[in-house]
Amino acid sequence: MTQQATSSITTLTQDELKTMVGQAALQFVVPGEIVGVGSGSTVNKFIEALGSMKDQIRGAVSSSVASTQRLQALGIAVFDSNEVERLSVYIDGADEIDHRGNMIKGGGAALTREKIVAAQSTRFVCIVDESKLVQTLGKFPVPVEVIPMAVQRITRQFAALGGSASVRLKDGQPLVTDNGQFILDVAGLQISDPLAFESEVSQWPGVVTVGVFAFQKAQVCLLAAAAGVKTMMF
Ligand code: A5P
Repeated sequence: MTQQATSSITTLTQDELKTMVGQAALQFVVPGEIVGVGSGSTVNKFIEALGSMKDQIRGAVSSSVASTQRLQALGIAVFDSNEVERLSVYIDGADEIDHRGNMIKGGGAALTREKIVAAQSTRFVCIVDESKLVQTLGKFPVPVEVIPMAVQRITRQFAALGGSASVRLKDGQPLVTDNGQFILDVAGLQISDPLAFESEVSQWPGVVTVGVFAFQKAQVCLLAAAAGVKTMMF
């Protein structure tokens, strides 16, 4: 590779990588069907790209109010998840993904609806840039949606596992999710067994959703890097 080529491909910004992977995800959208759509800045790029296919799909099931608004602004019909039994594909980003397709999600606070839509989908296509690929989940603080009255007890339970939980704030106040609950961000965990971790934490009273996606892991990961988009299958 020439010096000039090297420098031109390494100048891609994270925003450009997200645009690239958002475009690449279009190949998984099935014409004539309803597509599951996640949340976050990478998915926003996918939604923009989906605008070019809007006449070929029936619509979308969305995992957040923010994504719903973006889809509707493009003229894409948004269905309630109760109206649709099964989706063939769900496209969403992640905060971390490991080499088996397990993920941490919820950086945008939409993890509960994301897990619901992922669960009704046959195939989860995760779209990320290469900075999100990790050996072991846990460097990114794990988001956990909780019922407010359980915050202190759940915080102590995480401390017993070596985690440090803090309530996510917005404008100095606890952030309230689309479901009217709080988010705990849990730092300091090394999640070597994501299935076991998700199983255990999901059972704690007051936990609505833990942002480890092992039961609803990705089947495909589109990983954007300066050299292009790599497809990983799990
Ligand atoms: C939203 O709650 C999250 O699960 C997002 O999918 C995740 O935070 C990735 O977001 P970005 O694409 O903005 O990095």
